[in-house]
Formats: sequence, C-alpha cells, structure tokens
Amino acid sequence: MTNDSCLGFGLLGAGLIAPFHARAVRAASGARLVAVADTDPTRLAKFAAEFAITGYSSLDRMLADPAVQVVNILTPNHLHAADVLKTARAGKHILVEKPPALALREVDAMEAACAAAGVKIGVVLQCRTRGALQAIRAALQAGRFGKIHHADAFMKWFRSADYYRLDAWRSSRRSGAGVTIQQAFHYLDLLQYLVGPVRRVQAQMTNLAHPGIELEDTVLAFVTYQNGAQGVVEASTALWPGTDIRIEINGENGTAIMVGERMETWKFRVERREDEVIRCLGSAAVATGATGAADLSFRDHQVVVEDMVRAIRENREPMITLASVRPTLEWALAMYQSAKQGTAVDLPIVNEDAVW
Ligand SMILES: NC(=O)c1ccc[n+]([C@@H]2O[C@H](COP(=O)([O-])OP(=O)(O)OC[C@H]3O[C@@H](n4cnc5c(N)ncnc54)[C@H](O)[C@@H]3O)[C@@H](O)[C@H]2O)c1
Repeated sequence: MTNDSCLGFGLLGAGLIAPFHARAVRAASGARLVAVADTDPTRLAKFAAEFAITGYSSLDRMLADPAVQVVNILTPNHLHAADVLKTARAGKHILVEKPPALALREVDAMEAACAAAGVKIGVVLQCRTRGALQAIRAALQAGRFGKIHHADAFMKWFRSADYYRLDAWRSSRRSGAGVTIQQAFHYLDLLQYLVGPVRRVQAQMTNLAHPGIELEDTVLAFVTYQNGAQGVVEASTALWPGTDIRIEINGENGTAIMVGERMETWKFRVERREDEVIRCLGSAAVATGATGAADLSFRDHQVVVEDMVRAIRENREPMITLASVRPTLEWALAMYQSAKQGTAVDLPIVNEDAVW
C-alpha cells in the first residue's frame, strides 16, 4: 500500500496516552500519522517535533486539514462528547478514548451526529482485542461454560500522588477521573462484553491513599447480571506496587481466568483439542497498566487502529461500537449512584443527572 492510499490520522491531545496512539498508528497497516492538535503550546511543539507531524493549536484548525481523515480523541474525559460532535460534523471518522462520554444522553447525541454525518466512530477499549479475552468470549458464545455463576474483575493498581497532580482534570470528579470510570472502565467493559448486561449493582467507594483529592481511588461492588450470574468488582489505584488485573468467569462446566493479557486458568469438564493452545495465550511480560499510566504496550491500540482502517475501507461498523459500550457506561453511572445513595441500584438508571 502506498503512503498516499493510507488513511491520514490526526491526534487530538498530546498528553500521556498520545505517544501510544502515535506508535500504534505508525505501526498499523493502512494508516498514516499526519497531525496532532493541543491547546498547550509546549506539549504540542514537543510532540509534533518528536513524531515529525503537523501541529495545530486547536481541533478546528486540525479539522480544516484535508490530510486528516480520522481523528483520535485523546482529551480529558469530560471533553470527549463535544469533541466528537465537532469532529463528526466536519465529516471525519473518529476513534474516541474511553470512557466515550460521562452521560448516556451524550453517547446518544454522539451516535446521532456520526450517523447524520455518515462517519464511523469506534471506542478505544483495547483490552477487548486480547487473544485470551476473545477465547473466553468464543467459549461463552459456544455455551461451553454452561450456566454462568460468577463473573468478577479485580484491578489492584497503583497510581502515585504525582499522577493525580499532573493535570487539573485528573483529580476532578466532574471530569470523570475517579477509578471507577477512569481506570476500571476497561474491566467493567470486559465483564459487560462477556456476560452483561448488568441488572443490579451495589457499590462502595472510598479514598484510601490519596488525601487531598476529592475522588474515589477504590471501589468495591456486588453485581447481578441479567442472565442471573453474580459477581464482584474490586478496583483501586491505592494498592502499591500494583499487580495485573484478573478477570474470572466461573460457569457450571468451566472456569477461565485472565491475568493481565495472559490466560492463567482454562478448565472445562469437557476438554477440546484447541484447549492446549488457548492455555498458552498471552504473555506475562506484556505491560497492562498496573504500576503506572505509562506502563503499557501500544500493540492493543494498533489492533483498534487497523480495525478502524478496515471498517472505513469495507464500510462496516468498527469492532468496538459506541452502542456496545453504552451499557458499560450505564453500569459505571449506576455504581456512582449506588455509592452516593448507599443502596443497590437497578438498571436502567432513571435519573442520570443525579449521578455526579
Ligand atoms: N485506553 C487506555 O488504556 C487509556 C490509557 C490512558 C488514558 N486514556 C484516556 O485517554 C484520554 C487522555 O488521557 P491522558 O492521560 O493522555 O490525558 P492528558 O491530560 O495527559 O492529555 C490530554 C491532552 O489534551 C489536551 N487538551 C485539553 N483540552 C484540549 C482542547 N480543548 N483541545 C486540544 N487539546 C486539549 C491537554 O493539553 C493534554 O495535553 C482520557 O480519556 C483517558 O481516559 C486511555
């Protein structure tokens, strides 16, 4: 594929996650990194020089560049919705970082704007692409687990006080920076993608290790899924030094446990020939974010970028649609509501304005 036939990608935001997107786009087949936009002139200049791309001081300026066909939205969480609406109206395709927005009505407006403009929108929830996770999903769809009893996520991570002080939005509840909707969103999404949607949740939120910051750094929750399965979610950025996440699925006929991106346990009453290969999926050496925000591989992002290129070329939906992430956001919002009220909350939630 010549460079000219590659799709041009522009990054909105030159912060912590931006280098991972830049490397992912550069490595992706069919994609070309052409621009970055950021309102912070120092960050912008440094990033544009590092990756030898055009730097723009605003989204509007970048949207006027015809070389930019896809925009990766990497701004703070509370800005995603407005940035997506503007980008869609400019006729550019979109990859938006997680969480896609902070309210369901924002997600609905984003969906409508993209449909009206005829542009694709995909969400960067790259953990869905992991081989071990896809194997669990395939086994669930094939009915190998039988009735699901438990579906749990354990995220015992560490983020330092310095991480929360890097930018003002990181310690602001209204910016969606608490552990539930910021870091744990990935793993709520995996459970929702595997066994959701959720019927009821009871959550408790605390700040264990980050005094002076208004956010929860820890959440514990009991969950009941619509299919009758139960589960727990335990997520924290207070637990030094931070260990790999665990996703655990227990059914009447089998158990699967993914640690980081590696399949740790894969056992079924009825074995299949492919099980030996599935047990070897993933690597313990790949960093998945446990000890710090920069402790990450860009390979999962690359899969998401390459899928977006193919979705545009083939005129199909991207692999991680906004509609498929909406129930994850609703679950996260229900957890905030539950912690605030001190009661269990049933989904669908009725008054999302009361959440924040
Ligand atoms: N998928 C993942 O694993 C993953 C990991 C980390 C962060 N993220 C997500 O990526 C997003 C960004 O996180 P981050 O840690 O890079 O944040 P950050 O604060 O480091 O970077 C955000 C950048 O956006 C810029 N910005 C703010 N307002 C702007 C505007 N109006 N126009 C242009 N630029 C603007 C800021 O100057 C900053 O450089 C968040 O949504 C976060 O949840 C995802």
